[in-house]
Formats: sequence, C-alpha cells, structure tokens
Amino acid sequence: MKKALVVSITGAAGQIGYSLLPRIASGQVFGADQPIALRLIEIEPGMKALQGVVMELNDCAFPLLDSIEATSDLDVGFDGTNWALLVGSVPRKAGMERKDLLGINGQIFVGQGQAIERNAADDVRVLVVGNPCNTNCLIAMSNAQSIPSDRWFAMTRLDENRAKSALAEKAGVHNRDVTNLAIWGNHSSTLYPDFENALIKGEPVSKFIPERAWLEGDFIKSVQQRGAAIIAARGLSSAKSAAHAAIETVQTLRAVTPAEDWHSVALASDGSYGVEKGLICSFPTRSKGDGSASIVQSVDLGDFGKVKFQQSVTELLEEKAMVADLLPE
Ligand code: NAD
Ligand code: LMR
Repeated sequence: MKKALVVSITGAAGQIGYSLLPRIASGQVFGADQPIALRLIEIEPGMKALQGVVMELNDCAFPLLDSIEATSDLDVGFDGTNWALLVGSVPRKAGMERKDLLGINGQIFVGQGQAIERNAADDVRVLVVGNPCNTNCLIAMSNAQSIPSDRWFAMTRLDENRAKSALAEKAGVHNRDVTNLAIWGNHSSTLYPDFENALIKGEPVSKFIPERAWLEGDFIKSVQQRGAAIIAARGLSSAKSAAHAAIETVQTLRAVTPAEDWHSVALASDGSYGVEKGLICSFPTRSKGDGSASIVQSVDLGDFGKVKFQQSVTELLEEKAMVADLLPE
C-alpha cells in the first residue's frame, strides 16, 4: 500500500466541499491505489456541520480513506499537506461582483498562506477556489514566500467547461469535440474565453459557428455571467460544477497534457504575454504530469482577443492594488 497522500480542504462543510469530498475519498482524483488522509478545515461556526459531513464520510466506508481530521486550527489542517484546496470563503450574492468579496475574504488567505508555509509537505500544491480566486491566491502565495510560485493555482477550469458547453450547444456537436479552449485573465466578468484559438473537431470554431457577432457578443457574455445566472436561478452559487472543475484541475495537473490540447488554470505569470510577473492570471497551460503547469507560448490572440485579455489583466492589477496591505514585500 502507498503512503497516504495528505489532502487539506478548507470550507469543508460548505456546498462545494459536500460535492468534492466523496469524490476525493473514493479515489477518483488521486488514483484507485492512492490512500488519502483528509484534513478538513472549517471556522468554528462550521464545525458542527463538519461533524455531520465526517459522519457521512465514515458511513461511506471508503476503502482508500485512511483518516479524517476535522479542525478549525490551520496548523493541524495543513500539517504535512500535499494538496491544499482552498475553498472556504464567503460566496457572493446576487448583484455582487466577485471582487466585492475581497474585503471579506482577502484576509482569510493571509493566515492560510502563512499556515501552509509553516506546515505543508515539501511538494505541496495549492488550488484556490474561494473568490475572488485569482487575487486570493496571490495573497496566499505572497504570504508563503518560501514555497515556489509554480505551486500555486486558482481555478478557471469551470469557465473553460462552461465555454466548451456553450460552443458545443451552438455548433450542435458534443462537448468532447471542443478542444483548446483557453480562458485568459481573471475568474470574473472580464474573463476572455478564446473562441479564436479553440477548435471543434480539430477545425476552427468559425467553420461551425460562422456568426462572429454571436461569438464576440452573447457567447463571451454568457460565459462571463454564468456564475451570476446560476446564483439567480438557485439562490446559491455553483457547487457541483465547481467541485467537478476543481477535480479536473487537479487531475490535469497530475497528468501529461496531450501535445495538441491545453487547459485553463490561473497561475503565477512568468511575464508571458506581457503580464506582470507573479500576477495570478489564467492562460492556456500544459502539464508534464508532475503537478505543475507551463504557459503555452506563441498563441496568437489576435487584435480582438488582445483587447479583451488586457481588460482582464487590468482588472487583476486593480484587485492587486486593492489588497496591497495584505501583500508583504
Ligand atoms: P459555502 O458558503 O457553501 O461554503 C463555504 C464554507 O467555507 C462554509 O462552510 C464556511 O463556514 C467556510 N469558511 C468560511 N471562512 C472560512 C475560513 N476562514 N476557513 C475555513 N472555512 C471557512 O460556499 P461554497 O458554495 O462552497 O463556495 C465557496 C467559495 O468558492 C466561494 O467563495 C465561492 O464564490 C467560490 N467559488 C469559486 C468558483 C470558481 O470557479 N473559482 C466556483 C464556485 C464557487
Ligand atoms: C462561479 O463562477 O460560479 C463562482 O465563481 C461563483 C460566483 O460567484 O459566480
């Protein structure tokens, strides 16, 4: 039997946690031969609900689940962690932008970054889901400076999946026929779903969807506003699809990306495409299967895409300025 992999999840009693945990414990994410030690982190008011979640996990009798630690102590929660999934934070309500949460959620990621730095395993990887996830990830990473910047990720896979689904529906093809769909920029209403470099059955999207006005207009807007549309319909933000996207993000980082495709994740910019170094920005990426990702170079954004991407990068810089007091030098 392999040594258990330590997986820490914040906000474990929340909606996303509820969808995420059984899939991790069952082996879907880290492999059918990989035992898991779960460290479930909640704030004090969430601890009672978390006990219920633990009871349910126990009642599943998962063969791969070695242990469960439920805690509100960050040092316990991140002790020896190999993968930290930072979900815990307040979701937005109808009428809010995700960045309106910075004042409430930003501070959470200072303490979490510091605790990860103090306690995590040498090979730790961190995926931030809690919104606004790009800038929260920047805050956590900046407060854990001994952990290399290539270990930090924020989730834009849900936007990729939404964009693929929307293109597939319009083109009358299956989701799996849509590839190379990059989300550029921020997980926000400025994100750019790159229809110009996406492919359908290996061909340009324009071959299947000739209406450029739809692609530039309703398509982009629908992806940018999908989170808000779900909040309007459910009265709660997306959870099942968010948990699924988190799982796919981790799976993609742990597998070799086929040379002809790419996936979206926000990661610390290395200066590619003129984006300020260190800014947590979404790009097309490929993984070598070692839990890291590299930015695909030389993708031609075109004039339209460059303007859209720049708008989103500008917003990321504005968010960074808003949290300057949470970013140590
Ligand atoms: P939720 O309110 O159902 O659950 C959040 C949980 O986090 C709660 O149980 C709460 O007690 C806990 N929590 C709050 N502060 C915490 C802290 N400091 N430490 C540990 N736990 C803490 O919310 P949810 O629907 O699970 O969403 C969680 C976050 O994920 C929200 O910020 C939401 O906007 C975001 N989200 C991001 C994406 C994305 O694509 N990046 C998609 C969906 C949701
Ligand atoms: C989403 O995209 O569904 C999440 O980021 C939740 C939200 O606030 O939109």
